Amino acid sequence: MQSVAVPLRDQDRSKLQRAGQHSKLWADQAARRPPPGETQVQLYFNPASPYVRKVCVTAHELGLSDRLERTSITLSPVSPHEGVRANNPIGKIPTLVLEDGTALYDSPVICEYLDALTGGNRIFPATGPERWTALRRQSIADGIMDAAVLTRYEDAVRPKELRWQEWVDGQFLKIRTALDVLENENLDGGFDIGAISIACALGYLDLRYASEAWRKSRPRLAAWAAAVGKRPSLAATTPAVP
Ligand code: BEZ
Repeated sequence: MQSVAVPLRDQDRSKLQRAGQHSKLWADQAARRPPPGETQVQLYFNPASPYVRKVCVTAHELGLSDRLERTSITLSPVSPHEGVRANNPIGKIPTLVLEDGTALYDSPVICEYLDALTGGNRIFPATGPERWTALRRQSIADGIMDAAVLTRYEDAVRPKELRWQEWVDGQFLKIRTALDVLENENLDGGFDIGAISIACALGYLDLRYASEAWRKSRPRLAAWAAAVGKRPSLAATTPAVP
């Protein structure tokens, strides 16, 4: 159909001009600022770290994996990494460096930042009991990681003559008690930060302490781990390290 030119009334003309200016403003802003999902950020990374895995799983779930530029490093409490220390006074990974040089740490903060980049509340429930349950589960899982990683340093880094068995036993008591609590929780539901953290903590036990055989007395947790383990985000980040 042919369009017919109709003379504009002054009122209509100024409306269109305002709309044009507004869309030009948006276009200018959009040109200056890359869409949130497209900013490239640097992640100090080690494939064995369960905390780093939390970040990678969260990024994968949010479709942001390609935005993470991974800088692969090794570190321990007695051999810190200078690049990490320059960005994070505690010297731990994960540390995320944004395009403007701002550094974020550690995994709970980075995961929430990634969630916010895509609009928020997909990985961190916004409010109510759902939020507190997810955050509490994250704390339990991070506590399992803390105890297991400290024990790993004890086994792999501390000289044999300085090892302290009661201290290791104390760490395993934390791990076993936390796993028993998780066995009795209903973990069905969304794959939020609580579930991501638990999956990564269990994955680390499988990597470093398979002899602990945590599944043996925890069939519900084992079934849950097998089911969520099929998610592409977990399959793609399964640690395969020496
Ligand atoms: C590990 O090799 O088990 C490990 C590496 C980096 C951070 C935490 C654990």
